[in-house]
Amino acid sequence: MTTAHSKVPNTRRVGAAPTIDDLSPDERLSTDELRARQLKHLQWTLQHAYTNVPRYRRKFDQAGVHPDDCRDLSDLAKFPFTTKQDLRENYPFGMFAVPPQQVRRIHASSGTTGKPTVVGYTEQDIDTWATVVARSIFAAGGRPGHKLHNAYGYGLFTGGLGAHYGAEKLGCTVIPASGGMTARQVQIITDFRPEIIMVTPSYMLTLLDEFERQSLDPRRSSLKTGIFGAEPWTEQMRREIEERLDLDAVDIYGLSEVIGPGVAQECVETKDGLHIWEDHFYPEVIDPVHEQVVPDGETGELVFTSLTKQAMPIIRYRTRDLTALRPGTARPAFRRMEKVTGRSDDLIILRGVNVFPTQIEEIVLDVEGLAPHFRIELTKRDRMDHMTVLAECLADATPTQRHAAALEIMTRVKEGIGVSVGVEIVAPESLERSVGKLRRVIDRRQGS
Ligand code: DLL
Repeated sequence: MTTAHSKVPNTRRVGAAPTIDDLSPDERLSTDELRARQLKHLQWTLQHAYTNVPRYRRKFDQAGVHPDDCRDLSDLAKFPFTTKQDLRENYPFGMFAVPPQQVRRIHASSGTTGKPTVVGYTEQDIDTWATVVARSIFAAGGRPGHKLHNAYGYGLFTGGLGAHYGAEKLGCTVIPASGGMTARQVQIITDFRPEIIMVTPSYMLTLLDEFERQSLDPRRSSLKTGIFGAEPWTEQMRREIEERLDLDAVDIYGLSEVIGPGVAQECVETKDGLHIWEDHFYPEVIDPVHEQVVPDGETGELVFTSLTKQAMPIIRYRTRDLTALRPGTARPAFRRMEKVTGRSDDLIILRGVNVFPTQIEEIVLDVEGLAPHFRIELTKRDRMDHMTVLAECLADATPTQRHAAALEIMTRVKEGIGVSVGVEIVAPESLERSVGKLRRVIDRRQGS
């Protein structure tokens, strides 16, 4: 890692705000320098994809565009989108743009239906990936010499190895815990005393419960920074985790198709959304219905084009994640994306009303007497869709408190989201715990 990264002294909270001199040269680019570099790399990427991936050549030809038509960043809008379907139909390696011998690593994401989505990396891609993850950990407050407990799953999922290589590149000491064996993880955190943890927010809650089960006070743990991602989480969840652990909780975003974790990262000193590492990943936000680019500040579907990837360049990939772009703050050249509140796939349309699981999370985590564990169950009643929120109460909640909590959720969902739902307050520890990415919604509409 650049030596610039080793100059910042640690404080009690890991995240002392770095000065501009502490950042790597790529993070100090002016907007004009960044745009010029993006255009150059975009032109290379379009040419590389067109020349080496038949799918891209066919799609560009059908759309009547050629890589030479890209003379300005705005010309990207002329090129066709790429979707998960393109990757599935070219399973497993049809989207690769380099000879097989140059592919050093393969990852895959399982998805809910059909074949997994396969992605590949050259040696240089792995280095790029480690660089953006190292940058992300640094932005979160991590410094060389810190111990980092990595509880993202190792394997085909990009979380574990992606975080691992980035942490090593920054100069951290990695504890490759992976997911599962929760009791042992708590013991390791207690004994090895890491400053940083990387884990999904839902598995962090599982770990927190385990601390308490072992009669350990998580606020007295060595952890100072948590880098949470791979699934949507809310400001309410941030508050819950920060209070219970006495650490800074920041958001990391990424997806396999684009590279893995480290596409965007929230800076600890501002906690105001995630800076997209735009020198490697070019973002657009589109109206998902009309498929037109919307101006920065408007919410829509996030679309990414890789700028430097060799093995699997990706052009205008429709992430299905909903967000808005904002100007840079702590890293002025890089635009921020708002916290992703949901994917279009997660959207529940309940009797005509749009509901995201994160909207339910905001409410449940704000109600007294409840644990931060909940599920959403969808059933059919009289041929109408019905939603039940299952929320766990705290061990010492009285029947009156449980009743009041149910009523409060019902009222706030009705008033805030505009739809009637059922609420069941369930016993402590009765909902299944996450070991990685949590599935919040149980859809029983087919069988009911
Ligand atoms: O989840 C990569 C990752 C690993 C990111 C570890 C962060 C930390 P996939 O399995 O391909 O890759 O899933 C990507 O997860 O399109 C989003 O819907 C969701 N997602 C990832 N990070 C966030 C986040 C990894 N911070 C999909 N907030 C993405 C909300 C997220 N959703």
